[in-house]
Amino acid sequence: MAETKKYDIGALFSGKRSGSTVGSFKEPSKYVPATDPDYLWPEWTKDVLVWLLMDKFQPLYLFGPSGTGKSSCLRQVCARINMPVYSVTGSERLEVSDLIGHFVLKNQETIWVDGPLARAMREGGLFVIDEIDSCSPSIIMALNGVLDGSGLVIAEHGGELVQPHPLFRIACTGNSAGNGDSTGFYSGVAQMNLAFMDRFLVLEADYPDPKAETALLQKKFPALPETVVKGMVTFANAVRKLFKNEEPGQQPCEITITTRSLLRWGDLCLRYQALAGMGISPVEYAADRAFASRASKLTRTMLHELMQRIFADTSEKKEK
Ligand SMILES: Nc1ncnc2c1ncn2[C@@H]1O[C@H](COP(=O)(O)OP(=O)(O)OP(=O)(O)O)[C@@H](O)[C@H]1O
Ligand SMILES: [Mg+2]
Repeated sequence: MAETKKYDIGALFSGKRSGSTVGSFKEPSKYVPATDPDYLWPEWTKDVLVWLLMDKFQPLYLFGPSGTGKSSCLRQVCARINMPVYSVTGSERLEVSDLIGHFVLKNQETIWVDGPLARAMREGGLFVIDEIDSCSPSIIMALNGVLDGSGLVIAEHGGELVQPHPLFRIACTGNSAGNGDSTGFYSGVAQMNLAFMDRFLVLEADYPDPKAETALLQKKFPALPETVVKGMVTFANAVRKLFKNEEPGQQPCEITITTRSLLRWGDLCLRYQALAGMGISPVEYAADRAFASRASKLTRTMLHELMQRIFADTSEKKEK
C-alpha cells in the first residue's frame, strides 16, 4: 500500500501552520494533477478545505456559473497534497460502465479494467464528476450507495465488492444548485433528485472579486498595462451583472465573461498588440475573438459601447 502523510492545511495554503491536517499520499503518482504556480485561490477555497478536513466520508457538490474555477480549484488543491484525481465529464450519454469499468481483450485474454470510480475507491483519491447536472438519472441512482460510504458491487465482474479506500473522496461540480437551470443558458442542465442532493455538502463557487481577478491577470500577463487590466476586470463584472439581469432597465446580455474567457482575452490582447499599427484596437479586437463573437449583433453593439465607456473612464482616472 502506498505511504500516506498528514498535510498541514494552514502551512500549504497560507504559509502559516494551523495544526489542522488532512491525510493524503506521501508521493505523487501520474494521476496527481500538475501544480499551476499562477493559480490564485478563490475566496471559497476555504470552504473546500474545510470539506477536506471533515472526518466522516462526505461527498461534495460544488456549483456556480461556468468558468469560476470549480474544476481547476479541486485539481489544484489535490495537486498540493499528492491526491490523485480521477474525473469524468457528465453528459446524457455517460453510462454507469464508464464509471465502474468494463472487460477488454488483451493478448487474447479478457481482462477487467476499472473505471475511474472503481479505481478511486480501490486505490484512494478524488473521484470527480464534472457537469453532474447533465447526467442521466441512471448514473444518479447508481451513485447513491457509494455516496453513503458503502462499498461498490461490480455485478459485471462476478459481483466483486470494492470497499472504499480510507483516502477515497467524491466531488461533483455543476452549474446549478441541483434545482435545474433558471437562466436558460445552460442547455442539458436538469433538476436533480432530492434524495441524491441530500447526500452532499453543497458549496457555491463564484467569480473571484475584482482585486483577485486583477492580480490573476497581472500575474499571468505582466506585459499588460495596469489601466487595461483594470478596464477588463471592470468590464467583465459589468457584463456578469447584465447576464444575471441584475441591472434594472438595461438590456440583458446572453453571454457572460468567465475567468476562463478573461484569461483568453488577456492572452489575445498581447498577441494582437503587434497589429495595433494596422488600425485595429487590440483590446476590442481581442474581446471579439475571446468571447463577444458568440453574442447577437445587438448585444455586440451594446458591449462595444460599454467597453468604450469603461476604458475611457479607467484611463481618465489614471491621468488624474
Ligand atoms: N482562480 C484562478 N486562478 C487561475 N486560473 C483560473 C482561476 N479560476 C479559473 N481559472 C482558469 O479558468 C479556466 C476555467 O476554470 P474551470 O474549468 O476550473 O472552471 P469551471 O468553474 O469548472 O467551469 P465550467 O462550469 O464551465 O466547467 C481554467 O483554465 C482555469 O485554469
Ligand atoms: Mg468545470
